[in-house]
Amino acid sequence: MTARKVTVATLSALKARHEKAVFITAYDYPTATFADRAGVDMILVGDSAAMTMLGLPSTLQISLDEMLVFIRAVTRAAKHAFVVGDLPFLSYQPSDETAIRSAGAFIAAGCDAVKCEGGSRVARRVRAMVDAGIAVMGHLGLTPQSLGQLGGYRVQGKSLAAAEQLLRDAEALERAGAFSVLLEAVPAETAAFVRERVDLLVYGIGAGPEVDGQLVISHDLLGNFVGEIAPKFVKRYADVGANVERAFAEYARDVRAGAFPGPEHCYQIDAADEALIRAARQRTVHPVVAAVTA
Ligand code: KIV
Repeated sequence: MTARKVTVATLSALKARHEKAVFITAYDYPTATFADRAGVDMILVGDSAAMTMLGLPSTLQISLDEMLVFIRAVTRAAKHAFVVGDLPFLSYQPSDETAIRSAGAFIAAGCDAVKCEGGSRVARRVRAMVDAGIAVMGHLGLTPQSLGQLGGYRVQGKSLAAAEQLLRDAEALERAGAFSVLLEAVPAETAAFVRERVDLLVYGIGAGPEVDGQLVISHDLLGNFVGEIAPKFVKRYADVGANVERAFAEYARDVRAGAFPGPEHCYQIDAADEALIRAARQRTVHPVVAAVTA
């Protein structure tokens, strides 16, 4: 796909035409290349990389430098998709300066925008990043960097009072200059309630259909997440993990049975040269090899 690079203006135009934006996570060059070729509109280099790529127990343990490795791989691949870099835990909370430096490092590495978790309580940081010229996406609802406060991976915004709190947080992000907010794990009615009341681009992951676009974690969609979490809102489109495991097991069987490599996997040379090398092999066997093959 050689379509032009997606920008905030492109995303706003999609919303104006009532077209849904397609948003997926990617962390490496091949996956981002396939997503870009498939025509997705946005790629999130999520701090979920901690769990999907590094086998860590939560998103809290990944560092800015580790995120930058994933971000550089993805931005190298994304010729079309809008790339959002997910600011990891403690890379924006401590001070405005920390936030600007962290977000700036992501932009310098090729991101089109950054994402941070929280509403009113991070509004000052969002304003600081926006004032530095950086496009910022907020993240409300289930915010994994606050897992201790939320008490686990739980649905958020289940009452009117909770929906109104989400709205106040979304409004705070809007006032701070964010261009967008991502709602995670909230009932469809709550997401629609928020979306109808703000001018932000509102994306959802587990937030029902009445949002401006859908995000899914690529490992959940492809079936190659190694871990215990299986969110209700995921639809699986492939079984990559099982296919990879089957391929590795087949390869192991072939190697052990001497079925790989076959003649078709070997480099051919001139028959005369081959005969000379074969003859030399018989004349000059290395003493160690002779002992082993005796
Ligand atoms: O890190 C991530 O992939 C995310 C999504 C779960 C929203 O933030």
